Amino acid sequence: MKYRINGGNKLNGEIRIGGAKNSVLPILAATLLNKGTSVLHDCPKLKDVFSMIEILKHLGCAVEFSGSDIIVDSSGVIDYHIPDKLMRTMRSSIFLMGALVSRNNIAQISFPGGCDIGHRPIDLHLKSLRKLGINIKESFGYIHCKCTKIKGCEIHLDIPSVGATENIMLAVSMADGTTIIGNAAKEPEIEDLQNFLNSMGAQITGAGTNTIIIKGVKELHDTEYTIIPDRIVAGTYLIASAITKGDVVLTNVVKKHIESLISKMSESGFKIVTGNDFIRIEPCVRPRAVDMIITLPYPGFPTDLQAQMVSLLSTADGTSIVTETIFDNRFKYTEELVRMGADIKVDGRIAVIKGVENLTGTSVVARDLRGGAALVLAGLGAIGTTIVEDIEHIDRGYDKFDENLKNLGADIERIM
Ligand code: UD1
Repeated sequence: MKYRINGGNKLNGEIRIGGAKNSVLPILAATLLNKGTSVLHDCPKLKDVFSMIEILKHLGCAVEFSGSDIIVDSSGVIDYHIPDKLMRTMRSSIFLMGALVSRNNIAQISFPGGCDIGHRPIDLHLKSLRKLGINIKESFGYIHCKCTKIKGCEIHLDIPSVGATENIMLAVSMADGTTIIGNAAKEPEIEDLQNFLNSMGAQITGAGTNTIIIKGVKELHDTEYTIIPDRIVAGTYLIASAITKGDVVLTNVVKKHIESLISKMSESGFKIVTGNDFIRIEPCVRPRAVDMIITLPYPGFPTDLQAQMVSLLSTADGTSIVTETIFDNRFKYTEELVRMGADIKVDGRIAVIKGVENLTGTSVVARDLRGGAALVLAGLGAIGTTIVEDIEHIDRGYDKFDENLKNLGADIERIM
């Protein structure tokens, strides 16, 4: 599948941001824990969410996706084995390891798949679960986990890994004793997972700081919960507005979650007006280059908005420098931007972007989720027609991307 984009239309109007992919995925894994019913509101319809639902169904859950609500009944879970075919559909399937061992004392999964944005080891996940008394063996591409009872303990993460922090939280919510995670990831999605688990009766505090304390409870109960808005989707639409010199208002958005982006966009010359539940970006004639953007764990500049920001800076006045510190191969999309006329030089984890007057439309290929979104944004601002190929990557993270952009005035079409 491809997008055909005729660039140049200014985006205008209002868009409501839906629930966060990176929240709903671990929360779906968490629904395995309560042996009952979980009702989740504001869930995005994304390829990754459907993949996670497939896995839950395979394990024996009854799952219904109605409107933007997902209802999971996990009372009938009978399986603890996730076949390779399902695991490979997305990286986030790794969360199921903690949830499944907690539920069954046994789990068998293969190594996860996902976006190709560099080396993505799971050593911290394995090391942490082992520390909790889980016996883990790796053989023939599968990870076999077994334990009699998970035992809470202190775990200090070498890197504040989002996924490892979430996996531990899932594994220990019903463990014997207390677990303390030091150097934990502080992303808003971790806080969302804490709030969801607590809504089922878990006793977790500290998410959002670098120390999370989880007192194991005997059992969890049914719950109903609303997923937080997707900060990366919100940021992507803000940049889309900026790149087209548009005037877009985002609603259902948490300003605090995208403070680092707002700060860089203000530095670049955009006026951003914020209220309780909305963010409005006003157009500027030509953005200014920014000296330095460094991707960092939250609350630093998110790696998941790096590519979209580079698209914007491609036509800024002056030279910008962007350093990627989280993943080791996250500049592949820049080769495609160069085909559109951008002047970008990449050396390892550093990109130097000399702003040009305009990008021009051509045929480009999406190679990963956020890099793909960045190419769509570039196409919206470019002169002429851009074809973005392999948009299946983009479908993993953006619900109704083309429809929403069209509603804001973009000339974009999904073609075969
Ligand atoms: C999550 C997000 C992803 C985002 C990333 C960083 C989800 C579903 N995905 O991914 O969108 O880009 O956070 O904000 O929430 N690492 C190790 N060993 C491990 C685990 C991680 O070395 O066992 C390294 C990674 O290679 C990477 C860094 O730690 O360099 C951060 O990765 P991590 O925070 O774990 O990212 P994910 O949870 O995979």
